[in-house]
Amino acid sequence: MGFKHKDILGLQDLSGEEIYLLLNTAENMKEINSREIKKVPTLRGKTIVNLFFEPSTRTRTSFELAAKRLSADTINISASTSAVQKGETLSDTARNILAMKPDIIVMRHSISGAHHYLAKRVSCSIVNAGDGAHEHPSQALLDMLTMRERFGRLAGLKVAIVGDITHSRVARSNICGLTKVGAKIYLAGPPTMIPQGVERLGAVTVCKTIQEALDGADVVMMLRIQLERQGKTLMPTLREYSRYFGLNRDLLGLASPDVMVMHPGPMNRGVEISSDVADGPNSYILQQVENGVAVRMSMLYHVSGGELPTE
Ligand code: CP
Repeated sequence: MGFKHKDILGLQDLSGEEIYLLLNTAENMKEINSREIKKVPTLRGKTIVNLFFEPSTRTRTSFELAAKRLSADTINISASTSAVQKGETLSDTARNILAMKPDIIVMRHSISGAHHYLAKRVSCSIVNAGDGAHEHPSQALLDMLTMRERFGRLAGLKVAIVGDITHSRVARSNICGLTKVGAKIYLAGPPTMIPQGVERLGAVTVCKTIQEALDGADVVMMLRIQLERQGKTLMPTLREYSRYFGLNRDLLGLASPDVMVMHPGPMNRGVEISSDVADGPNSYILQQVENGVAVRMSMLYHVSGGELPTE
């Protein structure tokens, strides 16, 4: 089966088969990343623009590394150094970048749906590196790759996702992706941070307590409180949040003995996760980051048509 999409805007648009195709290719890309010379000519001659209107450490860096390892030419544009500061619209910024003939634009934007707007208007591929509280497909794919590596399967895993679900594009993409491949999702967080109608994204169980979500879980995914996206205060204090929804070693004891602890980063140590858990033997947080490069190589490869270059 080939990959038929010009863009990757979210896991909501992909089938379970397409998700597995991206994961399988990412596994092959990992082999390249383990070589002494970590470079193949697959995207030689292609130009990739990383257009980031929001801060990023992991996603921007790993998309850039992914492009470079596939021999594409890359340019990084961030909002703070672009003409957006002078009032240029997204549409005008995109039109001007397009005039320079890129093949792929990897974009992060604070507005949910900004990528869909752009993808309809341009001929180059758009890859979503995070749009508002909507989707973060590369993060969910790297999470799924890390889980599959650990357990050898995704179907049937009990995955607890804990925290600010309402404002989390990571949660949304993971719910869309993991339910398509048969994982069982349990959500927990303050009622003010669980969106109404979340079940429409996929078959999920909404839990009243973190204890209920963690019970026997194979994977625990902790989320940061997205203060930058919350219009008003959704909890009394951070200390209270941490008391009821923070993961510590005692709570982790409720999960399966070989539970994986995951976090997309950036972490707020002592708020949603204690340092001994974040740095402990069950933590896969840095493996997630490592797998991010391979997953993004796979995404860039497939939106480019998934073909090897001709001489
Ligand atoms: N997980 C994630 O998106 O991290 P960055 O914001 O650093 O890219």
